[in-house]
Amino acid sequence: MSTTDTTATTDVLSAADFAAHPFLGPLDRRPAHYRGPHRLSHSGWLNFADRLERREEMAAILAAVATSRRVLDVGGGTGELTRAVAAQVGRCVTVEPHARRVEALQTAGAVSSGNVPHVFEATGTAEIEVLPGHAEALPFPDAAFDAVLACWVLPYADDPDRAVREMARVCERGTPGSRVVLIGGAPDNELVSLLNEVCVPLAGEPHDHQGHLLADAARTLGESGFPVISLHRTEAALHFPEIDLEQRITIAAATLTDFWYEDHPRAADMREALRPALRRHFARRPHAIGDQGIVLMALCESLS
Ligand SMILES: C[S@@+](CC[C@H](N)C(=O)[O-])C[C@H]1O[C@@H](n2cnc3c(N)ncnc32)[C@H](O)[C@@H]1O
Repeated sequence: MSTTDTTATTDVLSAADFAAHPFLGPLDRRPAHYRGPHRLSHSGWLNFADRLERREEMAAILAAVATSRRVLDVGGGTGELTRAVAAQVGRCVTVEPHARRVEALQTAGAVSSGNVPHVFEATGTAEIEVLPGHAEALPFPDAAFDAVLACWVLPYADDPDRAVREMARVCERGTPGSRVVLIGGAPDNELVSLLNEVCVPLAGEPHDHQGHLLADAARTLGESGFPVISLHRTEAALHFPEIDLEQRITIAAATLTDFWYEDHPRAADMREALRPALRRHFARRPHAIGDQGIVLMALCESLS
């Protein structure tokens, strides 16, 4: 595929040329520095997740770990992905810093809680191990896993570069097939574009640019023994089936605002300011807002 094509779904490239890849754009808006973490609202994110359909993304992740045996899912969140991986692989370990999410992850068959590994049955004989912790200091020895995933996690980390170095450290390098897999927003992600256009300026924050996080991660992974990078674009979307347009706009405005800014002092202004942007959006795409992603897979050597 041409490196100027932003719509094709797969690409394989060497560490030297991913920096200018359009999947990691918008290239003309790349910031010089990380803007700092978004604060993911807890209930806001659960409402968001209830409307999110991401079959294609899940399929891409499951394909990425099809031959893996020891998988770490960093930032497991609601556990949707962790459970799917465990069901396929037989077992999945997840590290999650947010206490209420750790609790939710541990709910099924919980036998203990607190700062200890916690194992429970996922589906059938599959197991999930949940550990409280941060990507920046993973509680595992070197090379403990042959696949490390972090899906939609880097924009919430205090130090994404340290997080990526930790992921590379705990991933077996030098073994063919070992991989680190990250997902972040595609350059034309509709949700991020709406938040950047309306909410981020009201918050007085630098705009969100997830391609820059993935490009930096690719460079760090290359330096850490995983130089073969592939990029895969996925479609996902938040769905708003409400028939009445005004009701749909109201719900979408609240869903988007509460995702990142539920407790922000200007949250009410953001909901109001989103209305005309959402009206324009729904005129083009009546019942969905795209959450398009880029799956970045880093291998220690080419599989071909
Ligand atoms: C948008 S959610 C994504 C959850 C899950 N990976 C998924 O794709 O459904 C981001 C998750 O990253 C977690 N998180 C935030 N900062 C983190 C960090 N420094 N290390 C690990 N996880 C973190 C959040 O608590 C949250 O569960």
